[in-house]
Amino acid sequence: MSSFATSLIEWQKKHGRHHLPWQKDKTAYRVWVSEIMLQQTQVETVIPYYETFMQRFPDCKSLACADISEVLTLWAGLGYYRRAHNLHKASIIVTEQHGGNFPSDVANLEALPGIGRSTAHAIASIVFKKPYAILDGNVKRILARYFAIEEPINTTACEKKLWDIAQTLMPTDNCQIYTQAVMDLGAQVCMRSPMCHLCPVSDNCLAKKRQKTQCLPIKKPKKAKRKLHYLCLLYIHNNSLWLEKRSEQSIWPSLWCPPMPESENSETLKDKHHTLATITHSLTHIDMHITPCVIYGIPVQKDGKWVTSTTVKDVGLPSAIKKILARDALLE
Ligand code: ADE
Repeated sequence: MSSFATSLIEWQKKHGRHHLPWQKDKTAYRVWVSEIMLQQTQVETVIPYYETFMQRFPDCKSLACADISEVLTLWAGLGYYRRAHNLHKASIIVTEQHGGNFPSDVANLEALPGIGRSTAHAIASIVFKKPYAILDGNVKRILARYFAIEEPINTTACEKKLWDIAQTLMPTDNCQIYTQAVMDLGAQVCMRSPMCHLCPVSDNCLAKKRQKTQCLPIKKPKKAKRKLHYLCLLYIHNNSLWLEKRSEQSIWPSLWCPPMPESENSETLKDKHHTLATITHSLTHIDMHITPCVIYGIPVQKDGKWVTSTTVKDVGLPSAIKKILARDALLE
């Protein structure tokens, strides 16, 4: 076994995380849901969503039988809603094609919607204790530093090289501990600003030796995102706020939201009404600029509902809208 793996495994046992909700009762279903929620999302944000989700959908079959709109309501505020759609689709496939049991081989895992190579390998190693390496953003950062890789890590060529390195380092024993170890090292030690004094492999880290931990990894800048401007029409009447249910195909599928016209065409509304400070909210390919606009009155549109400061808590709102409502204290 590589000394890298040995050191990490020993370190994980002593200093790693052992009480995350998905570390209890490690079934493939529970680990799978956690890995999907943890894509692009911090552990602290995920935990309450994960607990609620598991209470409502304790196994694959209960998820497969649910209506997608209920899954999306539980997902409200977590973002990247395609994940919820894929989770639901995959649960149906596992129920219908695998008798409700998650496949244990990586090819069948990767064939499920929403499961890429790294997620398939995380499930294979954590649940089935198989020697498949993960490679997420945290692991890329660790490897780029440990081997002082001075090329941008977000190119296809470098990604291939990193996969090869990751797989070479992967031990055949204690696979589940090793996978958790690299995740924990990335989250707790080898962060953007690393804490090398806590690192079990700092002695052999080339970036540390060459004093390059702060400038590695290198990333090629991504294409700038498209900017879109929206008004968020906050109709207020009798201390209630007007919400409409968005379509399943929209950026916030099936969530409740104030009307949000794109603002290029709505300058007149902006002129006539009281606008609040614009907030920005980033999606995968778009930077949204949202200007809240308070209108004391009733919308022409009929499909929607009024919520109060109490009942607003029972509907699935996008986190951008939650931000506006919290900041501007619109409902008493
Ligand atoms: N991020 C992705 N998977 C994780 C896990 N199993 N534990 C902690 N953070 C993670």
